[in-house]
Amino acid sequence: MKFSKIEVNQDAARINREIEGYVNFVVRNWDNLLETVGLGGRKADYDDENYEFLGGANDELRKKHYDKSLRLLWKAERHASWSTFDDCTKDEEMLLKMAGQSLSAPEKREFERMQSAEFKELLNREYTPAQKQALVNILSLIGHGEAYAWLVSNEVLRDVQSTGAKAALTMQVMEEAKHFVVLRELIQAFEMPIPRLPAYEYIILESTLKAKGLEKFFGMNVLVESIALSIFGALSKFPGLEILEMFHLDESRHCALPTNYLKTKPLTWWESNNPAALLKRFFMVLPAIPLAFKMEPDFAELGIDVFDFGGSLVRKIMSLAYRVGFHLPLPQENMKQLINFLFNAYCSATRKDHEFQKFLDKESTMGEKELAVEREIFQAQSA
Ligand SMILES: [Fe+2]
Ligand SMILES: [Fe+2]
Repeated sequence: MKFSKIEVNQDAARINREIEGYVNFVVRNWDNLLETVGLGGRKADYDDENYEFLGGANDELRKKHYDKSLRLLWKAERHASWSTFDDCTKDEEMLLKMAGQSLSAPEKREFERMQSAEFKELLNREYTPAQKQALVNILSLIGHGEAYAWLVSNEVLRDVQSTGAKAALTMQVMEEAKHFVVLRELIQAFEMPIPRLPAYEYIILESTLKAKGLEKFFGMNVLVESIALSIFGALSKFPGLEILEMFHLDESRHCALPTNYLKTKPLTWWESNNPAALLKRFFMVLPAIPLAFKMEPDFAELGIDVFDFGGSLVRKIMSLAYRVGFHLPLPQENMKQLINFLFNAYCSATRKDHEFQKFLDKESTMGEKELAVEREIFQAQSA
């Protein structure tokens, strides 16, 4: 694959790596200390150094339960055609009409293709080792994020009210489990070292998992899932990564969940605006800024300016957050200006001849289908 690689300030990249290493040391050891003295520590029972939950892979159990559940997944429309359910895909409906037989899911075909030697050959043909490593570094941000999404959605399932909301969250739990195991095999197929969580993402994910009640919706469905949606939207047109279109569709549903849920059960004025909540949300978003600095070389390797990507992402996060009442310490427009200012300040300090840019007006999602899906969620804001 040919990318016009973007020149990156090597000093800035090195300093960011060193700062991140230092922050990582402090954060991890602080959590270890808290755990040793019995005052909490890391909440996730997840080992990102080994890209595994504590307790190991246990593939046998996965095959017996998770894979089997998916194989046996049934559609109400097929088994109870008299009901109000409309849950078959168009292809399934057509095949049902034609032959009345069940079919193998496109996702399953993709999944098998991924494991094949052919797929690895395709990756080697299309990408240089540096490009493969950059893709692994970016995709593993989401890979680790999926582990937390799995845990968080499981907890939100207990916090939301109504049968419909619980049914929606149950599907999200299932989809996050699917995302974690499928994305993991996709990333492993690149056969490059898989990095641990960057410290900044560690902070975002841990504070999301530790957030109380529906504040988890802000950390996960608004912040983290918008990052996932944007990464899938930016990469799904790359050779071999077409399956990310399926992930993009799922994440768009997850991003829309707070809007749909809070429409029926709006946050109170106090829940939206109390100073403690405003600050907590702000400190949840804040680490995403140095995370963008740290990821600059990987995005650049693929010809993507991380601040174009970040600007597009921030615009989407702000539109989702403020619409449902997850306010931040500043009004929406001022918040956007502040972040655009910080991006430009960083670029002025690290790039030669940088001119002020409106990063928040950029669009990083490629592909007509993906843009149409996002327009539905973000409405006029990203049109
Ligand atoms: Fe996911
Ligand atoms: Fe998700």
